Amino acid sequence: MNHKIFQLTYRSRASEGIGKEEILEIVDEAVAYNNRHDITGCLVFDQGYFIQILEGEKETVNQLYKKIAKDRRHFQFEILSKGEAATRLFKSWDMGYVSMEDLVVGEKEELVKKARMELDTISLKNDFTPKVFWYNVYTLLTDSKFYKKN
Ligand SMILES: Cc1cc2nc3c(=O)[nH]c(=O)nc-3n(C[C@H](O)[C@H](O)[C@H](O)COP(=O)(O)O)c2cc1C
Repeated sequence: MNHKIFQLTYRSRASEGIGKEEILEIVDEAVAYNNRHDITGCLVFDQGYFIQILEGEKETVNQLYKKIAKDRRHFQFEILSKGEAATRLFKSWDMGYVSMEDLVVGEKEELVKKARMELDTISLKNDFTPKVFWYNVYTLLTDSKFYKKN
């Protein structure tokens, strides 16, 4: 018996014209679908890029990723990491959402800086797993009174 869950992290570039409103629409769609398919995760928007983690049963996650990768609202996909894990990171979120830009101005500046540094490390394609990045995002999500659990 294998109860492990599958996690996939990718990065993409947001298409032209994608702003706050459009992203909130995406999150609404995502929450509804993911809830029905036992998928959890988090979507980060920062400087024109999306970074998303999808967690769930392997086939379900791969299928969802295929669907997401056909979406014209973003392009230039890059899978940053995928593999099995013992537990979900974003247990309580059908799809958490963090806009780094909205947080930079607030008291969370230090955490945002840290998370951005890890993203730069990802870009260098080292032997890096986004674990630390997602941990910091998780902290942003749980700390902030602006983000609610789904
Ligand atoms: C950055 C980004 C992230 C997305 N994340 C999800 C997601 O987690 N779950 C989901 O169902 N749809 C997500 N979507 C939307 C899907 O790409 C798709 O539009 C949606 O599932 C509706 O597909 P359908 O019209 O085939 O039903 C995302 C779209 C974008 C651009």
